[in-house]
Amino acid sequence: MPTPRRREPLAAIVLAAGKGTRMRSRRPKVLHEVCGRPLAYYPVKRALDLGADPVVVVVGHQAEAVEAALSAALPEAPIRFAVQEKQLGTAHAVMAAKGQLRGFKGSIVILSGDTPLLTEETLRTVIEARSRKDVGLSFATMHLDNPSGYGRLVRAPDGGPALIVEDKDATPEEKRITEVNAGLYCADAAFLWKTLSRVDSKNAQKEFYLTDIVAIAADGPGAVSAHVSSVEAAGVNDQEELSLAARALTRRFAETLMESGVTIEDPERFDVDEGVAVGPDTIIEPSVRLRGRTVVGSGCRIGQGSILTDTAVADNVTVNPYTVSAEATIGAGSIVGPFSRLRPGATLEEGVHIGNFVELKKTRMGKGAKANHLTYLGDATVGAGTNVGCGTVTCNYDGEKKHPTVIGERAFIGSDSILVAPITIGDGAYVAAGSTLTEDVPAGALALGRARQTTKEGWVEARKQAATPSAKQAAVPGAPGGGQANGSASARRAGGPRYK
Ligand code: UD1
Ligand code: CA
Repeated sequence: MPTPRRREPLAAIVLAAGKGTRMRSRRPKVLHEVCGRPLAYYPVKRALDLGADPVVVVVGHQAEAVEAALSAALPEAPIRFAVQEKQLGTAHAVMAAKGQLRGFKGSIVILSGDTPLLTEETLRTVIEARSRKDVGLSFATMHLDNPSGYGRLVRAPDGGPALIVEDKDATPEEKRITEVNAGLYCADAAFLWKTLSRVDSKNAQKEFYLTDIVAIAADGPGAVSAHVSSVEAAGVNDQEELSLAARALTRRFAETLMESGVTIEDPERFDVDEGVAVGPDTIIEPSVRLRGRTVVGSGCRIGQGSILTDTAVADNVTVNPYTVSAEATIGAGSIVGPFSRLRPGATLEEGVHIGNFVELKKTRMGKGAKANHLTYLGDATVGAGTNVGCGTVTCNYDGEKKHPTVIGERAFIGSDSILVAPITIGDGAYVAAGSTLTEDVPAGALALGRARQTTKEGWVEARKQAATPSAKQAAVPGAPGGGQANGSASARRAGGPRYK
C-alpha cells in the first residue's frame, strides 16, 4: 500500500505498559495473541506501514517480555521502547515516551496497544483530520449502543469537541452519551508536550488522563474529532473481547484470501495467522489451521482438520485431512495424509507420497519417493523413486546420539523393515520385508535380515487328534504347553509334526 504524501514527519506512540487486569492472566494483555501475533504487534505494524519513524512503544508491566516479543516480530523496524515504571495513567504513559522523541518535530499519532483491528485507513483518517483543519489535536470517536466503560465525548454548543469525561467521572446525564473516545489521537509534537505538562490527576481514578488534552486543546489551538468504525477501534480488555477480535481478524484475512481466488469452504471454521499466503485455486476444507510463516501455492487442496505451521507447500499439492506439519517443505504435486505428521526438516521434493500414520523428521524424500503407511523416517535421505514399505522404521537414536539413514534412488524397502542407523542402502537395492538391518546394503543387492521360517506341516490336525478322549494322555508334541518330547508315539501315529 502506498504511504500517503505527508507535509510533515510522523512519529507514533503505542501505549502498552498496562497489566490488563481484566484479562485475569499472568501474561501482560498486549502479549495475548490473535492470529499468531501479540495484540500490540498490530497497532505498531499499522503505524510503521504509515511511515511513522520512530514508533515508541511504552512498556511497563513485564517490560522485557513485551520488548522481546515486539523486537522479534518486527526486526529492523524503527521501534524504540520507553519504560513507564508505574502505570499512573495514559497521559503519564505518553510523557514516558518524551525522552525517545526529543527534538522530533511533526505529528505524533498515539495508539493503544490493545487494538488489533485498527486499519491503516482509520489511522490515516485521524491524521488527515488534523492536518486538514490545522489544529493542535485530532482524535477518533465512535458510536456505541452500550458506551459503558468508555470515555464520553461532550460537545460544545457549536458542535465541536469540548471535553472527554471518563466513565468513572461521568454524571448520569453524561453517561447517556453514546459517542465515545476510541483512544486514537494525532497531535502536533510541540503542542502535545506543552499540554501534557498541564494534565493533573484530580479525578475518580487519581490517574493522569490523556483524555484531558481534549479540553485543553479545545480551549487553545483547537481539537477536531474524526468518526471511525467501532469494530476497528475496539480495544481488547478481557478474554471474551480477545476471542471476538481473533474471529474478526481471521475473517478479514480469509476475505482477503478469497478475493485473491482461494476457495475457503467455511470461513467460520478456518484459522489463519497474519502473514500466511495462499495461491489462487487452492481449496481449503473446514477446520484447517494455517500458522506462522506458512505459504501454500496454487491449485492445492488442504484437507479438513489439517494444521500447517511454518510449512512451505508448492503448487498442486494435496494435503489430505488431519495432517499435522511444522517447519516442513512439500514439493509440487505431492500427496500427503490423511493423518501424516511432518516434523521440522521434513523436505518432500516433487510428486512425493506420504500416507497415513507416517512421521517424518529431518528427512528428505526425493522426487516421486513414497512412504504410504505406518512409518517413521528420521534423519534420513530417501532417493528419487524409492518405495518405503508399510511399517518401516529408521532407528536413528541410540539413546545418546542421532544417526543418519541414507537410502538411494529406486530402492525398495520391504514392509516392517528396521533400519538401524547409521546405515546406507544403495541405489536400486531391495530390503526383504521384516528385515532388521545393521549393515550397509550395496546398490542392486537384496538384503534379508530376518529369521528363517519354520513350518510344521500337519501340526493342526495332530493337535486335534491329541485332544480326542482316546488320546487324552498323550500331550501334543511341539505345541505350546505340550509336555512331551518330540517324536512321542501318538505323534508318530498321526504322521505328526516335527521340528525341522
Ligand atoms: C481509555 C480512555 C478512554 C477510551 C478508551 C478506549 C483514558 C483515561 N481513557 O480507557 O477515554 O474510551 O481508552 O479504549 O485514556 N496504559 C499505559 N499506562 C498507563 C495506563 C494505560 O501504558 O498508565 C495503556 C494500556 O496498557 C492500554 C492503553 O494504555 O494499552 C489504554 O489503557 P486502558 O486502561 O485500557 O484505558 P481504558 O480504561 O480502556
Ligand atoms: Ca482499553
